Amino acid sequence: MKHNLAEIEARILHEISEASTNDELERVRIKYLGKKGEISALLKHIGNLSPEQRPELGAAVNTLRNKVTHRIAQRKDELDTQALEESLRRDTIDVSLPGEVFEVGGLHPLTKSLREIISILSSMGFTVYESREAETDEMNFVKLNVPHGHPARDMQETFYLTDNALMRTHTSPGQIRGMLAMDGRLPVRFIVPGRVYRRDQTDASHHPVFHQVEGLAIHVDVTVKQLRGVISALMNRFFGQEVTVRLRPSYFPFTEPSCEVDISCVFCKGDGCSVCGGSGYLEVAGAGMVHPQVLRNGGYDPDEVSGFAFGFGLDRLAMLKHGIDDIRLLYGNDKRFLSQFRGI
Ligand code: DAH
Repeated sequence: MKHNLAEIEARILHEISEASTNDELERVRIKYLGKKGEISALLKHIGNLSPEQRPELGAAVNTLRNKVTHRIAQRKDELDTQALEESLRRDTIDVSLPGEVFEVGGLHPLTKSLREIISILSSMGFTVYESREAETDEMNFVKLNVPHGHPARDMQETFYLTDNALMRTHTSPGQIRGMLAMDGRLPVRFIVPGRVYRRDQTDASHHPVFHQVEGLAIHVDVTVKQLRGVISALMNRFFGQEVTVRLRPSYFPFTEPSCEVDISCVFCKGDGCSVCGGSGYLEVAGAGMVHPQVLRNGGYDPDEVSGFAFGFGLDRLAMLKHGIDDIRLLYGNDKRFLSQFRGI
């Protein structure tokens, strides 16, 4: 029996050392010290022995139980220490790691420029009329004095949806729709911002989708002087006081007289550089006094009222303001480009 106990002890101690987790260790404890465990069974067995045999074996089994109990406690300490060391190693905080960056988005440069223009013009009494991007041939051309077969269609006739519907080639049809919505009331003073579509080639200054900001003002005795005043104020507030405006005679079917709007070059201040082609001026809009027939098409009597209109290229304004030299950057969705405008 004694020899047997030594063997049992060796086996139990080995199992305890082999336990590599607290759960495993607990299983070993139950297996030997639990109510139905092997050592408990031995203790029970002692009761069946003769009185002479009892004390010696009883003492031996008790010693074994104490040893096992002690060794289990010891092993538990070892495992706890191991686990702690492991978690310290695993859960260390690297204070040199960069923190989690919460990226803040920003407005697209076109949106920013448009909001600025709306804010400036609304301070002069203009409201925003949102027209539509899909237009009828009638509104996009005919009502603006561009009948079928008119040469002015050549550069614009594009992206037809059906024989009579197309993606608008300019925001000018918004003039007609806006006038009709006013139903003859005065004064008319609104802008039409939005996307326009042309089958242009794509290069640094052309893109098949771009943006315009149309403007229309109608009242009794609206003059070219007022047109010039509004445009100058807009340009000065958008680009700065040093910018000067030049109206250059031109032709549009829906205005008479018509002009191109130039501003002094924002890069060379008028001295002449590569951006303005040495001229010192940059073309930013078309404008003019609303043609009598266009007034009639919008429900106004040209004998009683007059009006001015203008159409700015929003992309061009944003590009000049921010020194962007390629229109495609505005449509590329490249975060490296866009993120530069976050804080502006
Ligand atoms: N719609 C013209 C274009 O897209 C721009 C324009 C010129 C608009 C003269 C106007 C204007 O309102 O009066 O080229």
